[in-house]
Amino acid sequence: MTPTPRACLSVKPLTPSLGAEISGVDLGEQLAADVADEVREAFARYHVLFFRDQVVTHEQHIAFGKLFGPLDVIPIKRANHREHPELLVVRADANSKFVVGEDWHSDMTCLSEPPLASALYLETVPPVGGDTVFANVHAAYDALSEPLREFLSGLSAFHTAAKGWDGYGVDIDPKSIPTASHPVVCQHPGSGRPYLAVNEGFTTHIEGIERGLSDAILGFLFRHVTHPRFGCRFTWTPRTMVLWDNYALQHHAVWDYYPQVRSGHRVTIKGGRPLAASPVFTGR
Ligand code: SIN
Repeated sequence: MTPTPRACLSVKPLTPSLGAEISGVDLGEQLAADVADEVREAFARYHVLFFRDQVVTHEQHIAFGKLFGPLDVIPIKRANHREHPELLVVRADANSKFVVGEDWHSDMTCLSEPPLASALYLETVPPVGGDTVFANVHAAYDALSEPLREFLSGLSAFHTAAKGWDGYGVDIDPKSIPTASHPVVCQHPGSGRPYLAVNEGFTTHIEGIERGLSDAILGFLFRHVTHPRFGCRFTWTPRTMVLWDNYALQHHAVWDYYPQVRSGHRVTIKGGRPLAASPVFTGR
């Protein structure tokens, strides 16, 4: 039997465990079903995909996000695009006192159902700087010692937007700040792989243990995930789309380019309630 022809995507990995540059696809057009399948396969394998030199409208950006599931509207009115609330405005310039994502985090873990993925399209980037750094939190979990993995399983941690949203300030009603409790070790809804689900941007403490111990453990884990062995660093060029998995990865937007402009929009793909990792998972 003749094998079904594959679409002609080129997938160039950045590291063995995360990140791949994709070429041979035009996100300004509706993707054929086989191309969309290949993109999904590459996404499941590399967790963050980079598509350079793309010219996409807001509508095409939204359509691209919807290939991976329904979209969320991030509850920060001031940062939502006026006509397309699914788009979050991501912009830094000479007037900025704060930039989105300038700490290690997974997007919006302060929600009871944090987004599964995000797709950020930057039209304008600084001549140098403004990279985004990613860390694979499956690999970070796998590298922990067995006794520590056992200790962490069964624990939950508290996440709040108050930690990550300080810079948005003015229009956030303290009573409406989202908070959530999630297992410290979760399992990915697609692969079932366990991942470390605490992050510096949103997690304040591990519940049910003394605060000093929680601070010490979180301090260690926040540092641990940033080890270069688990990470990759991406240098943007204008009109690049980057799609990342918020459960498999954490990321950090480096703000080293002030007063230059870096600007674009992000869509976030709805997730579900994070599941505690199964103690019997044997897939590593
Ligand atoms: C974010 O956390 O969504 C921002 C990432 C970036 O600006 O690189």
